[in-house]
Amino acid sequence: MMLEQFMAEHLPAIEKELEECLPPEAAYPEKLHQAMRYSTLGGGKRLRALLAVAAAEMAAKDRFTQVQPAAYRLAAAVEMLHAYSLIHDDLPCMDDDDFRRGRPSNHKVFGEAVAVLAGDALLTESFALLGQLEDLGIPVKVVVAVIREMAQAGGSRGLIGGQAVDLASEGRQISQETLEYIHTHKTGALFRAVVRCGALLGGADEAELAAVTLYAEHFGLCFQIIDDILDVVGDEAKLGKKVGSDAEQGKVTYVTLYGLEEARALALKAMEEAREAVADFQGSEVLASLAMYIVQRDH
Ligand code: IPE
Ligand code: IPE
Ligand code: MG
Ligand code: MG
Ligand code: MG
Repeated sequence: MMLEQFMAEHLPAIEKELEECLPPEAAYPEKLHQAMRYSTLGGGKRLRALLAVAAAEMAAKDRFTQVQPAAYRLAAAVEMLHAYSLIHDDLPCMDDDDFRRGRPSNHKVFGEAVAVLAGDALLTESFALLGQLEDLGIPVKVVVAVIREMAQAGGSRGLIGGQAVDLASEGRQISQETLEYIHTHKTGALFRAVVRCGALLGGADEAELAAVTLYAEHFGLCFQIIDDILDVVGDEAKLGKKVGSDAEQGKVTYVTLYGLEEARALALKAMEEAREAVADFQGSEVLASLAMYIVQRDH
């Protein structure tokens, strides 16, 4: 299936799922719920959600309609977890960024304390959503595996570990290995987990799971190299976030370490490796196109 067609079919449904899974704005305490919805709805490429659905579809094949409600729930959960990480990433004590997705960052609108709490709540609620997968027909064993994967990816040996080293490295020269650690953890871990979890929901066998895991590892690296490049050469209006933020914070990135041209070559290599990892598998076209899409993106 073509990527455009896949997006046209699933993006509106993902948006609707998110809208319904989030607490309503009018629910007490209203300001907290408004802040949670502000940063989760209406913006974002929904890459992690699309990956969840694409991996589930590849693994489930003609049983996909049975698995679809669970894939959408996973998609909503990962986007809530991602939104939390962005709210916290933009805080003055972290990257100190005032814009996100073309709008003022969460803390600029709601204040730092509410922004911290909205992030906390989004993270926690995302796991409540995963706990609902059993009600959507997923065997308990698979539900537990999904929760374990997502928790590990979000924890100190995953996303948080990456963020910690990213912040500790500001203004310092770091090695290639340290930069790789940052990228594979702050960004890569969640991509890896959501692709694996999508595949698990779809009933992937060992070979499929190994293939999508490799795919996701290359995909995550490619994605973050492009993020680094866009922070230097991107168009603020299209990106919806400030460019030059990395330089301002004294971050070592793929661009500072390798230069623009070499960084782009490394991103292309990772993209090709991602595509190769799943090339032999039936129904992997959307995953392959998504890898191409993130290299060509301008936002
Ligand atoms: C941005 O992620 C933050 C990083 C992990 C580098 P995305 O570029 O996927 O952000 P949205 O969801 O599309 O806004
Ligand atoms: C953010 O990385 C990673 C997480 C939020 C976990 P960046 O700091 O590079 O993301 P942007 O560039 O602000 O979107
Ligand atoms: Mg950051
Ligand atoms: Mg940032
Ligand atoms: Mg960045």
